[in-house]
Amino acid sequence: MELARGKVNFASCDWVRPRSSPASAESGLSFGRQRANSNSTMADKNTINDLLGDEIKDLYSAEKQLTKAIPKMAKGSNEPTLKAAFSAHLAETTDQVARLERIGELLGIKVSGKKCVGMAGLIEEGSEALEEDGEESALDLGIIGAGSRVEHYEMAAYLAAISLAKRIGADEVVSLLQQSLAEEEAADKKLQQIASGLLKKAPVGAPDKPVSARA
Ligand SMILES: [Fe+2]
Ligand SMILES: [Fe+2]
Repeated sequence: MELARGKVNFASCDWVRPRSSPASAESGLSFGRQRANSNSTMADKNTINDLLGDEIKDLYSAEKQLTKAIPKMAKGSNEPTLKAAFSAHLAETTDQVARLERIGELLGIKVSGKKCVGMAGLIEEGSEALEEDGEESALDLGIIGAGSRVEHYEMAAYLAAISLAKRIGADEVVSLLQQSLAEEEAADKKLQQIASGLLKKAPVGAPDKPVSARA
């Protein structure tokens, strides 16, 4: 079914509760526009330029966090090709940070000062995968799952920023963002390629009993 433009009722979504919603007040959900208690570093977004600036700051925070997390992913991996893939992507991530700093200059904004909480969560999940014990190939597949989540999050963020930068005709910004997007896509492809080899190596357990047969 095609959704007609302007007919989507966002107020009906669980994560965009109306300000007066009792459920929101009870659960403390903060996805709606409850600015009274919001983070004071949040800037108003009145234009596409404001939104783009915010996306760039978010990406900058995400990439900076990853420059610290990726070495841990490399160290925690068992498969040499996986270690090498993370190490290669660390170098790219450092370049991506530099690109975002250049974008900040082009847009006349300070790129630091915002925390990407989405990436912080993904890194926290990834650290769980690194702490597990077990068969090496199976553990590496878990690390790849965590790494792939990171790459997809970044791809979504770069795609959003690219569409905003295109709208305001910031051609150099678009080009820099596209370079980073291409690296994220290639990094994820590489992870999937390594995973397909590990899937053949990792042991497969006995099939589970049907749910109905369990005690
Ligand atoms: Fe990145
Ligand atoms: Fe990445």
